[in-house]
Amino acid sequence: MENLKEDLEDFLKMNLESIFTLTPARPVTYFGVGAIRMISEISKNLKSKGIDRAIIVTDPIVWQSTKVEQYIKPALEENGIEFTIYDKVRPNPTYASCDELANIAREFNAKVFITVGGGSHNDTAKTAAALLKNPGKTAKDLYEKIILINEAIPVVSINTTHGTGSELDKYAVAQSDGGYKPAIAGPGLYPVFAIEDPALTLTLPKRQTLSTALDAFHHSFEAATTKTRNPYSTLLSKTAIRLIAKWLPVAANEPNNIAARYWLMYASAIAGISFDIASLHLTHTLEHPMSALNPKTPHGIGLTAIFPAVLNVTYKIFPELSADLLSSIIPDLKGVPGEAEYAEREIEKWFASIGVPDKLTDLGFTDKDVDRLVENAITSPMTPLMAATSPVEVTKEVVRFIYERSLRPIH
Ligand SMILES: [Fe+2]
Repeated sequence: MENLKEDLEDFLKMNLESIFTLTPARPVTYFGVGAIRMISEISKNLKSKGIDRAIIVTDPIVWQSTKVEQYIKPALEENGIEFTIYDKVRPNPTYASCDELANIAREFNAKVFITVGGGSHNDTAKTAAALLKNPGKTAKDLYEKIILINEAIPVVSINTTHGTGSELDKYAVAQSDGGYKPAIAGPGLYPVFAIEDPALTLTLPKRQTLSTALDAFHHSFEAATTKTRNPYSTLLSKTAIRLIAKWLPVAANEPNNIAARYWLMYASAIAGISFDIASLHLTHTLEHPMSALNPKTPHGIGLTAIFPAVLNVTYKIFPELSADLLSSIIPDLKGVPGEAEYAEREIEKWFASIGVPDKLTDLGFTDKDVDRLVENAITSPMTPLMAATSPVEVTKEVVRFIYERSLRPIH
């Protein structure tokens, strides 16, 4: 574990009277190479609670490439759990796709969702699971009336990426037709069991390897710099960033390197716990309008395109803490406000060096899209929640500065 530099000036800016939950995320999480075999124990446990009908939520590529059927099918059959497979999960799920799954689950009388995949699979299943306990409501109702989710039918999450954190957190996101991608949150959205088996990530293509691990990087950095940060989340974030800095370049070039996959999955899991207890802020708030407007934007790549400009804004507030968090990537940072632009440029160079040179123009956005992005970011139902934890005020000027500065590389 890292040393936490608790005597940094930036730590002293923390509100010591802010009460946080010093507990790990809720699911029973089985971690390690071969953890997929624990689906047998999980099935037994579900059956003992009267759960005898399951929907497996996946997509054809993940289902076939990870070959998990050989473990899941016998485990469910041996325990007398009937199941059906829903394999229509799309990246950046919509309200409509969540409603569709909820309707199928109602017809099947499903008592548990078993996800095989990453964030989009969990988002779709968690939303449907909440809908099953909120009869008469649609996904739009949940997301746009900001309903706190206290109850949902159980979700078991088999993680096949190393980025989302969704397998062990209390959040779900989905997008509207109008360019919004809000979140719902609440204790009902924690999966009951999670499986983190690094072997299931070996078939991730390079772009997804980068996108998912960088998502975990951004979870880490944001959680460590929210107004609601605490020593525990900061320690988890710092460790996760160091692991990603070390192992992501390895996994990007050697997809079969199981040690790299192991440490990236671990980093992703602890980053998930970090933001589950400390929340997120600007980078996620501003990426969601991008992937809502252009659903082909991989979440982690979109975050990475705007992070240098976000860092430009936030570095001045937490120079020591930011330098400490980034020390494994930019070792010569001294932790003074005047080096914000240097930090911005160096982190952008590092992203490019590992294979993500993408800025907004590379992702299909033009100068003309900035107005719409700013408008959607400011009016999104999610923004007030994230703005509350952001270290800087989320004004139109700040948002515009970040989008405009992220259109093209600055280095
Ligand atoms: Fe994320």
